[in-house]
Amino acid sequence: MVAFKLGALFVAAAGFVMANAAVYAADAPNLNDPKIAKYVAGDKWSGYVTSTPETRKMQDDDFENPSFVWVDQARALWDKVDGKAGKSCASCHGEVEKLKGASTTYPKFVDKHNDLITVEHQIGICRTKYMEADAWKWEGDQMLGMSALVRLQSRGMPVNVSIDGKNKPFYEKGREFYYQRRGHFDFSCAHCHVDNYGNMIRSELLSHGMPNGFPQYRLKWQKLGSMHRRFRGCNKNTRAEPYKQGSPEYTALELYTMWRASGLPVETPAVRK
Ligand code: HEC
Ligand code: HEC
Repeated sequence: MVAFKLGALFVAAAGFVMANAAVYAADAPNLNDPKIAKYVAGDKWSGYVTSTPETRKMQDDDFENPSFVWVDQARALWDKVDGKAGKSCASCHGEVEKLKGASTTYPKFVDKHNDLITVEHQIGICRTKYMEADAWKWEGDQMLGMSALVRLQSRGMPVNVSIDGKNKPFYEKGREFYYQRRGHFDFSCAHCHVDNYGNMIRSELLSHGMPNGFPQYRLKWQKLGSMHRRFRGCNKNTRAEPYKQGSPEYTALELYTMWRASGLPVETPAVRK
């Protein structure tokens, strides 16, 4: 049934370095290194921990991180008047720095919009409803850059989503999705990111599949990409049906995976292979 070959299970975090040494001597993450320890919260690691030293280095330095091309474009867009209402983001929000901390609680149920919404949904509402401007495509450069700029204001702050109140049914839906086997290979998200993190799958070292660094720059994509694009990729890799970016399915899944990442720092814009 399973066409993937999973390596020997690496024990707990502490055993990682030793167990991994033979396979990946050069790349083995040292969880005691203070730089890496920042990306560990309890028993959860961000993908930074399982990244290659090369991509970690790119992420550590904003001048080397290619994401900042999009982020800098978004800084200019923040002040740009657009749409029939004659407003820019700054007209209503002032300095973008004021959004510090805001993204850590998304996705969340917003009464006014009567739905669970992500940062991208909110930006879309501000564009179309409040500015009366054209909608930005979810995976377009403007939306990716703006989402990254907004989330960057919270970089280093712990992910802090709520799974109570009106968020609860969405959390449950997301959790169900996460554990549901699907596709030709009959894999759930949990098969790879809960049961096999630290193992090799094909040529990749599996992480916990954490969402705290999106939008992120992937060398494979050669551009910034959204979290929902990554969800699509993981669904497609197991030949399961992918959903649309921004769909209710992936928005609920975003809440569940963000809850898993509770306490990990926002690291947008991350860099990954
Ligand atoms: C067959 C194994 C497999 C399955 C099943 C799978 N993924 Fe992944 N996923 C990967 C691999 C490989 C990567 C890239 C290396 C890594 O970070 O684990 C990845 C990366 C990710 C990342 C990016 C992590 C980062 O730090 O950038 C997220 C988020 C993610 N997966 C979420 C999911 C979700 C949600 C599901 C279920 C819809 C899922 N994955 C199912 C293999 C899988
Ligand atoms: C006409 C005023 C107005 C403009 C222009 C506007 N917004 Fe908003 N924005 C709001 C209001 C009001 C809210 C509160 C939620 C709501 O009512 O939808 C909000 C909420 C937000 C939030 C969530 C903040 C939080 O604390 O949770 C983000 C992020 C955001 N806007 C981004 C943008 C971006 C990016 C632009 C420009 C593309 C923009 N907004 C333009 C009025 C505006």
